[in-house]
Amino acid sequence: MRPIKDRNDFVTESLRQDRFWTQIMSEHALFIREGLPCMETALIEEARQLEEIFAGLKARADQTPSDRAAVCALNQDIIKALDRIIEFKTFVLKRMITCRLGGFNYPLLLDHIRREAIRFRANLLKLNNNIQTPLAELALEEEIFWLRIMGDHARFIAHLLDPSERPLVRRATQFGMNFETLRLQGEDLQSMLVPRDYENHLLPADMMGQPLPPGFGNLKEPFVIPRLQRFNGEVIAATMEIRDFKAVALELVETCKVLSLISPLLASHVLREAEMALADLGRIEQELNMNK
Ligand SMILES: [Fe+2]
Ligand SMILES: [Fe+2]
Repeated sequence: MRPIKDRNDFVTESLRQDRFWTQIMSEHALFIREGLPCMETALIEEARQLEEIFAGLKARADQTPSDRAAVCALNQDIIKALDRIIEFKTFVLKRMITCRLGGFNYPLLLDHIRREAIRFRANLLKLNNNIQTPLAELALEEEIFWLRIMGDHARFIAHLLDPSERPLVRRATQFGMNFETLRLQGEDLQSMLVPRDYENHLLPADMMGQPLPPGFGNLKEPFVIPRLQRFNGEVIAATMEIRDFKAVALELVETCKVLSLISPLLASHVLREAEMALADLGRIEQELNMNK
């Protein structure tokens, strides 16, 4: 495997992640707060604090110079804030799915934004500890992560549009199904090329990070096949399509031409995430091309 320069560039890659995801995390706190019942004052206050903490970290990230030590310290502080927001999302999700909390936060939305936070934290931990993932494994992890996120977005849009907006609801649902088909194909390729991921998935969660007992972890290294390149292209094409759909949706929401429960900020949030998906997938494409 020949890692491209960019992937190894700790400072550039950290700042790219930090500047994007801190803003996203701040918006997540706002979305949760808006969906909480008004008597849940403690949860509302925690959401408000998290919104501010991440807005502060975004401002700091924008001003952090390209200096290794400064970026490493920034990453550390963001990781701490992520611990807190992941705990908060977990707490709200658990209360929602045990029917002990009202309001309007879909459980899948809470799980979705927690997945985004967990992945951001994992990316920062990998950067700070210089952990490199083999290309086939990285490619499939990124693709499967984004396919699930894009599919969720499609379904959130379908469920937040007014039911009278029939053709748009249908279109959004169709996007959801397309992304699910692609995700299943990604999972097929993952167990073909990265059997270790599948084996890890079979281990109990509390054994993660522990030394593996004899017999585990002997599977062959992940490897790249030409199909992986075609798959990456298919994921990029599908993401471009939904990106364009979201751009139209944002415009409709902003000009009040569509009936929905979607705020302009939420419409722009999911559009920006599609752009980030394309940036991440483009980096994978570049590496797959170099690996030919
Ligand atoms: Fe998000
Ligand atoms: Fe999202």
